[in-house]
Amino acid sequence: MKSISVWDIPVRLFHWSLATSILFLFVTAQIGGNAMEWHKKIGFFVIGLIAFRVVWGFVGSYHARFKNFVRAPATVIAYAKKLFKKDGSHYLGHNPMGGLSVLALLAVVGFQTLTGLFSNDDIMLEGPYASLVSKAFSDQMTKLHQLNSDLILVLIGLHLSAIAFYAVFKKEQLVEAMLTGKKELDASIGGDFETEMAEKPRPYWLPWSIVGVVGGLTYALVTRVFF
Ligand code: HEM
Ligand code: HEM
Repeated sequence: MKSISVWDIPVRLFHWSLATSILFLFVTAQIGGNAMEWHKKIGFFVIGLIAFRVVWGFVGSYHARFKNFVRAPATVIAYAKKLFKKDGSHYLGHNPMGGLSVLALLAVVGFQTLTGLFSNDDIMLEGPYASLVSKAFSDQMTKLHQLNSDLILVLIGLHLSAIAFYAVFKKEQLVEAMLTGKKELDASIGGDFETEMAEKPRPYWLPWSIVGVVGGLTYALVTRVFF
């Protein structure tokens, strides 16, 4: 069987950096105290990661681009109806439900960082924008930060369950693909892989330039250069 490159290096680096960062953010929040200084720094790093992924979703390689995996609701529903069929077609990139979960994960994690910027812990730590708003508003944001962190845990639970379901029921090893970047081409694969195969790889300078610009803007945002 022929194997084909599906996840480019930026997507894989983004994914595993995000997963590791989220783990550390929950650990530091649990420990509290001085560990919260790290919470803040890693949280800022996550802002950069999400911003990078959003830009890469427009200019990245074929399977990284939103337009190649974000599907109309009707397509998602049609796919969901066939989910328990073992012989249903599978996708090289994200399947229609997977595409939806990518958007959900990016949105909730993005929202978490946004609320974090305005949060306070009533003792020594606050987000860089907490002092610009009233204490009542900052407290509201802190509540949302706490509530939304539970939502993140629920989505991660679903994410990992879906991956386990694909491994056990559909015999698709998605984790291996997210590590190596490659998937096997076989007859049941749906989607438009001829267009994808014809596409030129992205130049090396492109992700690096985005990292530079997004990194700079994130730094400016969290150090309040603009406000
Ligand atoms: C995706 C990124 C983030 C995740 C997953 C996350 C997660 C958490 C969690 C689980 C808590 C504990 C909530 C609780 O007490 O129930 C917390 C608290 C906190 N986080 Fe974050 N956080 C993130 C980003 C940030 C950012 C960017 C900041 C900005 C500096 C921030 C500032 C705070 C503060 C000030 C608290 C203490 C709030 C309190 O006392 O309850 N967080 N965070
Ligand atoms: C050990 C834990 C994790 C494993 C094994 C894992 C595995 C995977 C796999 C296999 C995919 C590809 C799914 C597909 O083929 O459609 C994926 C995608 C994704 N995962 Fe995870 N994941 C983990 C943790 C997380 C965490 C903690 C987050 C963030 C909260 C996360 C966010 C995402 C996102 C946003 C994507 C889409 C990737 C992209 O297109 O850029 N994952 N994950």
